[in-house]
Amino acid sequence: MLNPLLVRLHVAASASAITLIATFLASSGITELTGGAGDIRVLRHGVVLGLPLLVACLATAGLTGRHLAGDSRSAIVRRKQRRLQVAAAVGVLVLVPCALILNHLAAGPTTSRAFTALEVTEFLFGTVNLSLLVANFRDGRRMTRHRRPAQVAERAGRTP
Ligand code: HEM
Repeated sequence: MLNPLLVRLHVAASASAITLIATFLASSGITELTGGAGDIRVLRHGVVLGLPLLVACLATAGLTGRHLAGDSRSAIVRRKQRRLQVAAAVGVLVLVPCALILNHLAAGPTTSRAFTALEVTEFLFGTVNLSLLVANFRDGRRMTRHRRPAQVAERAGRTP
């Protein structure tokens, strides 16, 4: 039987992960284009502080997703699992190191070639990860599409 609380946790963790990555990307882009060295320093520190939250959201999405999938080996479940594995690998191998090094380098001049190269790398791989998570979200909604009209009717029936 499906656990509605688990589904809610899965969606909340997934949506939070997407919101966090989108916020990191947007604030990095805006700060780089319009901010000064001080703003960039604050942003880099903020990204490092936000990383554990993002990792926790992704881990929760993965664990709850695996639980919801149960024994299913359907194509859509395997696709979601593969995407999450790629996103996790990109996070561990590229995004976390970039965030830590950038935070360290932000103490010095933020116009060096190395700093810019790392920022561009982080932006590109961050966009890849955001796309993977959005694709998983879309597939998740597709998986539950058939149940939604019944859920809406059920909730409407319960309203006083
Ligand atoms: C961060 C990556 C993921 C995102 C963004 C995501 C997103 C979603 C969303 C939005 C739903 C729809 C919930 C609803 O409409 O009530 C869903 C459902 C589901 N997801 Fe994920 N998901 C992710 C990872 C995974 C993984 C790794 C698995 C399996 C290994 C998985 C398995 C499922 C299953 C089985 C459902 C259907 C639950 C049901 O029948 O109510 N998800 N997911």
